[in-house]
Amino acid sequence: MNHSIRLTINGTAREVDIDDPRVTLLDLLRERLDLTGTKKGCDRGQCGACTILVDGRRINSCLALAISFDGADVTTIEGLATNGELHPVQAAFIEHDGFQCGYCTPGQIMSAVGLIAEGQAGADPERVREGMSGNLCRCGAYAGITEAVIDAHGRLVEKNQ
Ligand code: FES
Ligand code: FES
Repeated sequence: MNHSIRLTINGTAREVDIDDPRVTLLDLLRERLDLTGTKKGCDRGQCGACTILVDGRRINSCLALAISFDGADVTTIEGLATNGELHPVQAAFIEHDGFQCGYCTPGQIMSAVGLIAEGQAGADPERVREGMSGNLCRCGAYAGITEAVIDAHGRLVEKNQ
């Protein structure tokens, strides 16, 4: 039986028919809504490549059944830039070489945005590494990722003062 759910995705209201209750938010985004910026790595909650924000909180979208998110506010990597300007976390990843192949990068960036919003980032590399530990990078770009998160956190704090 089909179920219809309503989502706000990157600021736009969408109504989506779910024909299989097992479909994940990750597959819904990638296969039904053409939002392929969110990546599928392990598909079992171990790599963080599929990280998105739901109601402002970080989640692994590969573990989230779409049908249980009726009414949710979803942000993906495609929704971060505004008015043609990169989000400060995106800009910091570029400036600090926080990636190599780029496959993990959307998940890393979404996780960093969530971490900063949670007030769990800051200037301590150890704390940032801990907060980002759910996001794996097979290229080992961790040094640049940590620097980018610290820098972006500083910029966002400054902007909000
Ligand atoms: Fe979701 Fe790896 S694809 S955690
Ligand atoms: Fe290649 Fe992270 S940049 S997996």
